[in-house]
Amino acid sequence: MAEKPPQPTMDTIVSLCRRRGFVFPSSEIYGGLGSTFDYGHYGVLLKTNIRNQWLRAMVQERDDMVALDSAIILNPRVWEASGHVAGFNDPLVDCRTCKLRFRADKLDDAACGRKPSKRPGETPDCDLTDSRQFNLMFETHVGALQDGSSSAYLRPETAQGIFINFKNVLQIARRKPPFGIAQTGKSFRNEITPGNFLFRVREFEQMEMEFFVPPDDAPRWHEYWIAERLAWYRGLGLRDENLRVREHDEQERSHYSSATSDIEYRYPIGWQELEGVANRGSYDLTQHTDHSGTKLEYVGPDGERYTPHVIEPAVSIERIFVALLVDAYDEEVVAERKRVVLRLHPLVAPVKAAILPLVPRDEGMASRARTLYEELRRHHVVEHDDSGQIGRRYRRQDEIGTPWAFTIDEQTLEDETVTVRDRDSLAQERLPISGVREWLDEALQQDSPSPRSR
Ligand code: GAP
Repeated sequence: MAEKPPQPTMDTIVSLCRRRGFVFPSSEIYGGLGSTFDYGHYGVLLKTNIRNQWLRAMVQERDDMVALDSAIILNPRVWEASGHVAGFNDPLVDCRTCKLRFRADKLDDAACGRKPSKRPGETPDCDLTDSRQFNLMFETHVGALQDGSSSAYLRPETAQGIFINFKNVLQIARRKPPFGIAQTGKSFRNEITPGNFLFRVREFEQMEMEFFVPPDDAPRWHEYWIAERLAWYRGLGLRDENLRVREHDEQERSHYSSATSDIEYRYPIGWQELEGVANRGSYDLTQHTDHSGTKLEYVGPDGERYTPHVIEPAVSIERIFVALLVDAYDEEVVAERKRVVLRLHPLVAPVKAAILPLVPRDEGMASRARTLYEELRRHHVVEHDDSGQIGRRYRRQDEIGTPWAFTIDEQTLEDETVTVRDRDSLAQERLPISGVREWLDEALQQDSPSPRSR
């Protein structure tokens, strides 16, 4: 059996992200704000690629799906109907000694503020309060008045924006079940114990899709979406041994769910939820019908009427971001030097190719490199790098996961060819400079998973 490649630690990923400008702690010059992050250049490109791949699979390549972008701040009655005002709570305990807060149901995973080797409550000094419910929604005010009547919430999930637009889509987009509504956008949760880098943060970008089906078909569609989403992760190169599906038991399921399976990833902190795929039944459409007085149901041309059931695959870009980096991270020794390489699938790699003049001072090489770069950047995100030794430049690109580098050298001046270097195999071949654009287009079309074990 093939040996499992060792996983990087979360600290290794955090430090790479910092070093190469993927992610920075937010508000750092003011001392930061716990578990809040800003994305730098390569982080933005990686997030954009993840979002685009999701939209491509969910919307562009299907004819049973429409897109939506609903508001972040909704009428607060939405959250009463959805059950979030009454039930979107975590049990919280405070320690009067170390002044830290913990999730009462996760004490086993927490560290005591004074003795981090112990759990909260394990030392005689720990003085924990009784557990009380803490609502995770961020409250805000709309308009100039700050009283109860102006209270509103930042959405804790994008899903409800979809349910309240069900009738619009049914009528305007003229859809009939089975069909889905997909949306991406920021969600906010006042998590009691955020942490593990981007894994649990208070502000994150969800990608959720609500698939409306005839009630009897819901179990079949639930299975379908679990398989579909798993295949999507595999297609982005995540390794099989790091993915699994885990079904929730009855106690674990959310109030709205009649069945939920998590697609879990083997993060450096253990197996954890990457994406949830829930069968929400008719819960949400029924609740919004009851609370708003607007009937959210499907009425067929022959008078058939029913409240569709809903299958929901829901994930955040942040959890995929971390999974992709963990899966792609590799270290090896090449020519007696350590090489750090992100073996990202080319579709998600922030930069698709680097254009490198071997001797930047050479006018012929510099001008050809610049011309090639200006041609390629009209079609793909590419980078021109002419600072430092060529070996250093390759390593910089390896660390951000750039799949290919085109180098313009002496031979280019003689026969108008360039070398293309493959990030993973380090193989180099020569191509006519005039064929580089087509070569890159074709390479990006290929269904190549990141070829580490591969
Ligand atoms: N609409 C259903 C819903 O929101 P959820 O399991 O609470 O269900 C869905 O969240 C997904 O959102 C999770 O599987 C995870 O990928 C992501 N997610 C949830 N809370 C998060 C957090 N605090 N930080 C980052 N991602 C989070």
